[in-house]
Amino acid sequence: MTSDLQIFSTELAEPCPYYLGEEIEAQLPAVLAPFECDRCFLVTSRPLYERMGRGLAQRLRQAGLPLRVILVGDGEREKNWRSLRRLGEALVAGGATKDSLVLALGGGALGNLVGLAAALLYRGVRFVEIPTTLMALTDSTLSNKQAINGRRGKNLFGSYHAPVLIWGDVAYARSEPERQRRAGVVEGIKNLLITGESITDTQPLLDAWQSRDLLRLTRCLIDSKLPILRADPSERASAIILEYGHTFGHAIEWLCQGALFHGEAISIGLCLAAELSNSLGCASDEFVREHYELLGDALGTPTRLPAEITPRVLLETMQRDNKRSRKGLGYLLLVDWGQFLNPSGDRQTKVDDELVLKVLSQLTSPPSPRLKSAR
Ligand SMILES: NC(=O)c1ccc[n+]([C@@H]2O[C@H](COP(=O)([O-])OP(=O)(O)OC[C@H]3O[C@@H](n4cnc5c(N)ncnc54)[C@H](O)[C@@H]3O)[C@@H](O)[C@H]2O)c1
Repeated sequence: MTSDLQIFSTELAEPCPYYLGEEIEAQLPAVLAPFECDRCFLVTSRPLYERMGRGLAQRLRQAGLPLRVILVGDGEREKNWRSLRRLGEALVAGGATKDSLVLALGGGALGNLVGLAAALLYRGVRFVEIPTTLMALTDSTLSNKQAINGRRGKNLFGSYHAPVLIWGDVAYARSEPERQRRAGVVEGIKNLLITGESITDTQPLLDAWQSRDLLRLTRCLIDSKLPILRADPSERASAIILEYGHTFGHAIEWLCQGALFHGEAISIGLCLAAELSNSLGCASDEFVREHYELLGDALGTPTRLPAEITPRVLLETMQRDNKRSRKGLGYLLLVDWGQFLNPSGDRQTKVDDELVLKVLSQLTSPPSPRLKSAR
């Protein structure tokens, strides 16, 4: 069903327009035309090319765009130096110049890879994000942070590079598997935990999830993030609160090597952050329970640390977290809805490693009565 085009700004330090709608592909050539590129590269993966890339490429060529297609590997495991080098070299071999335009058609991992390649090529060429997952439509593209993983951890090498525009056609995300789409809602729940006043604030988002109206859900998730970016367009100050649950979550995602989706790992990370805050006497039992209710019960994403990940290995992996500073590893911890510990500082709290290990050990042992109902 074709929808009207909604246009709004990302409101970041380098803002760009976000075009959102459903089955809006026919309007893309006219939006790209003013960019006057000598060459246009559509970068996507083989499965996504077969699914929607071929039709898109045909439409863009018919409109006169000098389009070439570059196929890359996709997903978390391909967000690495090898893929970055291959893509960079393929762009150069394909004749890219400072006046070229690179289109990234894919999920958050592919968008991050292409965004970083575009940032590095000739010290920056123009790129367009065309997200194909709910996570990319509503979260990764709303950030100018581009990164790849290193041998020892997630998002270790990166840069800030803004797309010239985001083309959010939710029709592309229709083929996303249910489990993956569900994981795409987690960051929205997190956004409400860090800005909301009570669990009732999450009802519109959960209603949008239940409605199966993908456009409405997408807009609801976007609207949960934009105010946080508006307060810190640089993404270097207060927007750090977006990383709530990510110190645990990124390490879990890294250790699972693709077995869990990004949102699933973050779902577990959010519950662990709440438990850690509770063990420090900060978050109430009720607030912790609300994490499990929202993520485990209402949304159905995992909330328990996988048994294969030992607390010590998780802690070692977290020590390489990209937020770590000379002060060591800090945790973003909530006391209650929208209330961080250490709000006037960098919002991060130093916690003794032994306490972290103790909390993690309790949570990987047989379920406590509170956890039994929370999966
Ligand atoms: N820069 C940021 O601020 C930011 C924010 C959030 C997430 N991220 C990154 O985004 C990544 C997660 O993104 P994701 O959740 O989109 O997953 P993903 O990009 O890893 O994609 C997962 C899988 O879904 C497939 N896929 C993509 N679109 C599809 C479709 N329409 N139909 C069927 N399959 C499809 C992909 O080919 C891939 O195999 C992580 O690497 C995460 O670090 C970055």
